[in-house]
Amino acid sequence: MLRVAVLVSGGGTNLQAVIDAIEEGRISNARIDVVISNNKKAYALERARKHGIQAVGLSPKDFENRDLFNEALYQELAGREIDLVVLAGCLVVIPDKIIREFENRIINIHPSLIPSFCGKGCYGLKVHEQALQRGVKISGATVHFVDEGTDTGPIIMQKAVEVRDDDTPEVLQRRIMEQAEWVILPEVINLIAEGSVSVSEGHVKIKK
Ligand code: GRF
Repeated sequence: MLRVAVLVSGGGTNLQAVIDAIEEGRISNARIDVVISNNKKAYALERARKHGIQAVGLSPKDFENRDLFNEALYQELAGREIDLVVLAGCLVVIPDKIIREFENRIINIHPSLIPSFCGKGCYGLKVHEQALQRGVKISGATVHFVDEGTDTGPIIMQKAVEVRDDDTPEVLQRRIMEQAEWVILPEVINLIAEGSVSVSEGHVKIKK
């Protein structure tokens, strides 16, 4: 059984998609051991509690410095023998120590087709604002492994979504969530739980 930790900062609709997929059997052989949020008021924590999942608020503000926060975050994961860390709308920069310890065991969902509209400072609505500004006709979402860079890790799965002429960033964001993010994030977790995902020289292979 794959032991999963989900790290969140906000509303947690991606978390909800994973919870639903586990409850409906679309993800087998995995369970969420803990949901951790840097924002104690995040609705995602409430979603976890509603489903009997341990919810931990861990705010950098409660620590004297960043190193102590990073260490506390590390202990939360290491202490639970977590196999896979899922960043689902997590705005915390993951410390290098965690990235090294969990090499190819941390995944992130990004709301564009990487390498477009990603990188430092490109998150949330900004991603969709930039896509609309550039006038792309398709956008989408990407699930990738996390390495030391920002959105630079090996790509696991992508799904394209149509951009319409009258889209606003909010409308496009919602369509990408519904049609791509909530679909591919659970799918990737299931593939990892099945042992079907491998990484070699920075490229991901999925066993069919
Ligand atoms: C999603 O668009 C995700 O791709 C991005 O942040 C948003 C999080 O939404 N990284 P939610 O908290 O899962 O509802």
